[in-house]
Amino acid sequence: MERLVFSGAAIAALFLAATSVVAQEESGRQEYMIACAGCHGESARGDGPLASLLNIHTPNLTMLSENVGNGEFPFEYTLWMIDGRRIIRAHGSEMPVWGDRYQASSTSERGESDDMIVRGRILSLVYYLESIQE
Ligand code: HEC
Repeated sequence: MERLVFSGAAIAALFLAATSVVAQEESGRQEYMIACAGCHGESARGDGPLASLLNIHTPNLTMLSENVGNGEFPFEYTLWMIDGRRIIRAHGSEMPVWGDRYQASSTSERGESDDMIVRGRILSLVYYLESIQE
């Protein structure tokens, strides 16, 4: 019985994953324009209006596959770079910790925070970035 329940859920998850990639990309694009384009630029080439105000170089996000992934899109790396909560750095970073911000903004009226919403928004961003690799 338990096995049946599990496989039903797995099939549902696969189905959702397959049908929502296009929708994910579009919401990722919108999210990107709101949250990231200021620094990384609308074209994602690292040329946003705020980039010149930072004291470190703002990376070109259309080159992640080439620069970071050895020709393949570095899915996990990108995920953790955006989330930021699990990255331990020796020095402070200019890159905001989106995991915390998205967590705070998705706190429900009853005061619970929903990690699934946070992950969904970050995942949409990752799919969008994957779709614009050069
Ligand atoms: C305040 C400016 C700023 C904003 C806003 C910003 N970033 Fe960044 N981002 C940076 C800088 C600067 C770096 C350089 C690396 C560092 O800080 O360690 C970076 C690095 C990255 C990297 C790693 C790139 C590489 O080549 O290693 C990714 C991926 C990334 N940002 C994605 C995003 C996404 C997606 C958003 C929006 C949710 C975003 N960034 C918002 C400034 C910003």
